[in-house]
Amino acid sequence: MKSYKEKILNAVREYGTPSYIYDGEKLINNYLRLRNALPQCVDVFYALKVNPNVSLVKLLRSKGACTEVCSLTEMEIALKAGSIPEDIIFLGPCKEDYELRRAIQLGIFALVVESENELERISGIAKQLGVTANVAIRINPDFSAEGSPWKMGGRPTHFGIDESRVLDNFGKYLNTENVNIRGIHVYNGTNILDAKSVYENTKYILQLYETISEKYNCKFSMVDVGGGMGIPYYANQTALDIDEFRNLMFPLFNDFNKKFPGTRIIMESGRFIIGTAGYYAVSVNNIKENHGKTFVVTNGGTNHHSSAAGTGRVVKRNFPMENISSEAQDEKTLEYQVSGPLCSPDDLLGRNLKMKPTHVNDIIIVKYSGAYGSTSSPGLFHSHGFPVEVLSYNDENYLIRKKDTAEDIISRQVVVDFNKISKLEPKLIQI
Ligand SMILES: Cc1ncc(COP(=O)(O)O)c(C=O)c1O
Repeated sequence: MKSYKEKILNAVREYGTPSYIYDGEKLINNYLRLRNALPQCVDVFYALKVNPNVSLVKLLRSKGACTEVCSLTEMEIALKAGSIPEDIIFLGPCKEDYELRRAIQLGIFALVVESENELERISGIAKQLGVTANVAIRINPDFSAEGSPWKMGGRPTHFGIDESRVLDNFGKYLNTENVNIRGIHVYNGTNILDAKSVYENTKYILQLYETISEKYNCKFSMVDVGGGMGIPYYANQTALDIDEFRNLMFPLFNDFNKKFPGTRIIMESGRFIIGTAGYYAVSVNNIKENHGKTFVVTNGGTNHHSSAAGTGRVVKRNFPMENISSEAQDEKTLEYQVSGPLCSPDDLLGRNLKMKPTHVNDIIIVKYSGAYGSTSSPGLFHSHGFPVEVLSYNDENYLIRKKDTAEDIISRQVVVDFNKISKLEPKLIQI
């Protein structure tokens, strides 16, 4: 079995940098670790927003993962990757009519409704189509996920409907024409490293499901408890204890399943499954001193990996990084600022990073880069475009995304033929 360094250097030799490289074995292993930490009554839905590459989704699908999508394109990717409508849920705060129409026509497992207006729109479209749409109501609970740095619920957000409002109005939802209310959905927060927090969060949601079922005396067929299982990006963090997670979640879900055997239990996950399976690799283009600091200038940065650069965060900390070319055998390290190609002082992948002595043309990798990489980065800044993506699997390198070329980027723009415009000279406006 090759080491991660060998796999990356091998992929880089074939496809160059900047590049995203995924370790297929690690991806499968991560998925199975989560899958095996949950009882069979729970279905794991991979969240495409985290990394929507069709080949990666296909690999996960081949191991049984279902899919959670947030746009028409993600839905088409899920289908192309082999998902079936029964294993797709579609959520997000702004779904366009054409997206809803396609989802309803496909008959996906559930459209997760984020507002009462959206429920009405879905009802209208389903009526026009002469069908019934399967939906779940997304609730923004009165409870927030402890331990999540990004809380999506338990505070004002544009996600879901307030818990108290749902409790009051569920009867109305049930009477909405042309919709089949499957149940509820809650997603409270992401990157949670404490198993107990995920457990408490889940317990609350399952209780909420029970309360609504009893109050409205109906049998639902779905509860989506979100997830938010995290990975430890920073030196002071500890990985989620998967054994503790398993010990807590097994009895919780099995008890629920005994009470509600007809209810499909859904857990969503992205970061935990794919985060540690991805590497972002860049080459050193230049090394320079500036105002007392040593800058390692590389051919990729915030434009491809804004999460690693800490965009939007007040306190910026480094993802785990390493120079994988350095021949230096001793443990000597130097302090570097690893900067990217953008004309922005914030384009730094590594700040005060301790790294082995580094030279031009060395390959530096950012680990834990499988989640929220290209998909949440400003790839068009400086018109560099998005990088190549490679899957290393079974001792082979598979090209899974071609890099954007200048031609690709320019061809999306439209050149206006100003010669065809007769009166080009604007009239001066007298003020
Ligand atoms: C509704 C929903 N589902 C799933 C995810 C994926 O979360 P994670 O990457 O923490 O697994 C997110 C992330 O924000 C989300 O908002």
